[in-house]
Amino acid sequence: MTVVPSEIEVHSYLAEGDERALADDVLDGLTRPFKELPPKHFYDARGAELFDRICDLPEYYPTRTERSILEARAEEIVELTCAAEIVELGSGTAAKTRILLDAMQDAGTLRRYVPLDVTEQMILETAAALVDEYPGLLVHGIVGDFERHLRHLPAPLGPRLVAFLGGTIGNFTPGSRRRFLRGLAKAMGPDDHLLLGTDLVKDPTMLEAAYDDSQGVTAEFNRNVLRVVNRELDADFDVDAFDHVAFFDREREWIEMRLRASSRQHVHIGALGLDVEFEPREELRTEISAKFTIKRLGADLAASGLELREVLTDPDELFVLSLSARPGG
Ligand SMILES: C[S@@+](CC[C@H](N)C(=O)[O-])C[C@H]1O[C@@H](n2cnc3c(N)ncnc32)[C@H](O)[C@@H]1O
Repeated sequence: MTVVPSEIEVHSYLAEGDERALADDVLDGLTRPFKELPPKHFYDARGAELFDRICDLPEYYPTRTERSILEARAEEIVELTCAAEIVELGSGTAAKTRILLDAMQDAGTLRRYVPLDVTEQMILETAAALVDEYPGLLVHGIVGDFERHLRHLPAPLGPRLVAFLGGTIGNFTPGSRRRFLRGLAKAMGPDDHLLLGTDLVKDPTMLEAAYDDSQGVTAEFNRNVLRVVNRELDADFDVDAFDHVAFFDREREWIEMRLRASSRQHVHIGALGLDVEFEPREELRTEISAKFTIKRLGADLAASGLELREVLTDPDELFVLSLSARPGG
């Protein structure tokens, strides 16, 4: 049994449905005419570590840009929201979150941190580190899926800042993005604010380099989903037979990551009793990352029952952090 400090509680809602969710996604996604897997399955411990390395790559501007906006505006965000707690969706290692926690601590409002992520190990490690770094902080961790488990958020201890950083909102297709935001708006109270990180439309060369770095870290991250399927579902993907592909779809204004079979592949997925064929050069879509304009962002928020209150950006307008809330709140 792991002994955790009394300031920390962690609840897991994945235990049972977890493997089934992967199995369902694999069965559904790999039997379609155009094969596809959702990006949440990248993130086992190795995937999380690879993502952290991506954040430090010279080509990957979103993390450092979002960080710089937070550094410049955290105090103002705390003043505007009076937040007593941060609910963070897809919290990862909470590296940038500390900038907000520092500002809340300085303002004397900080009470609790509520991280929600699919990766249990990260929730546990982050919780342990944060109660050390912020004496008196309560941590209520949720190991779960932000598409399915928002109802398990604890009752607020005060005004909440719901942080959804890193441009992760871009992983939704436009329809499911609005459905997700609507659900989130319903889970928010009148005193709560959403702090949403969105990457902006820009020069395609810069965008494509961010998803196809020269050291090949993103390629490894992309292929990691095949390792996850091999391990969790007893499959026999030849991981090295799939090439990393990343391109900006100018019409839809999103980046697509795909894995392209370098030759004909036959894959057996033991846990599903499923055989899947890949033609030479056939592609499997593993992620979309939508890029936004401020106008589209405002329209998405409005359609979801949220009012855009503040748009915080960097001098080059590469990335936006927006603050929104329920109208009248
Ligand atoms: C792009 S990373 C961003 C991490 C961090 N928020 C940041 O800004 O650097 C996406 C994070 O969301 C988590 N994640 C992805 N899909 C998820 C889902 N459906 N439910 C909960 N967490 C999810 C991943 O485990 C990962 O930590």
